[in-house]
Amino acid sequence: MTKKKIANIPFGPFISVLAGATVNGKPNYATIGAYGVVSQKNVLYISLKNSHYTTSGVLENGFFTVNIPKSDDVEKTDYCGTVSGSKVDKSNVFESFYDEAGNAPMIKECSINYLCKVIQTIPIFDFTMFLGEIVATYAEEDCLENGRPNALKVKPIILMDTGYFDLNSRVGSIFKSCQGNR
Ligand SMILES: Cc1cc2nc3c(=O)[nH]c(=O)nc-3n(C[C@H](O)[C@H](O)[C@H](O)COP(=O)(O)O)c2cc1C
Repeated sequence: MTKKKIANIPFGPFISVLAGATVNGKPNYATIGAYGVVSQKNVLYISLKNSHYTTSGVLENGFFTVNIPKSDDVEKTDYCGTVSGSKVDKSNVFESFYDEAGNAPMIKECSINYLCKVIQTIPIFDFTMFLGEIVATYAEEDCLENGRPNALKVKPIILMDTGYFDLNSRVGSIFKSCQGNR
């Protein structure tokens, strides 16, 4: 197979999530692709541009949320990544809810919500990478099967190059090829 060198720009796939924080007493959400895990531990990272409105809320409160939107909500998700809360009030784009302590807002319409407490910040160029310990996880009941989120019901939005995509089908099972050896 012939290979061709292309631009050193990450192409994806990334899952598109909504990072949430309370800013000036209101919920605010920014769409991000720079989100992920560092291991199987209960830690997530998000990477936010320093100038974003959401970033100021995370720095002020020490908490952020990661909300996984469904592909049905792709337009609203794109909107939250297009306008800044510093100019437009995004607090009513989605319906918010909070846990008892009210540390950061979560989105009702999203399949899964993680509430994270900042445990480390890493500056990287004009971004800050926030590592957060997951302190609470909420899942929409309809997305669960035997108590676990079912990926096809969670309906994540996959980001690749200039497009949004959805999940089509399950193509395999994790660790199937080493059955009996684990
Ligand atoms: C698909 C998509 C992915 C994005 N990924 C990121 C990201 O990973 N980090 C980031 O800081 N901004 C990212 N952005 C840009 C912010 O969402 C956008 O600038 C937003 O308006 C910031 O909102 P805020 O100022 O209210 O926080 C992304 C935008 C889109 C549409």
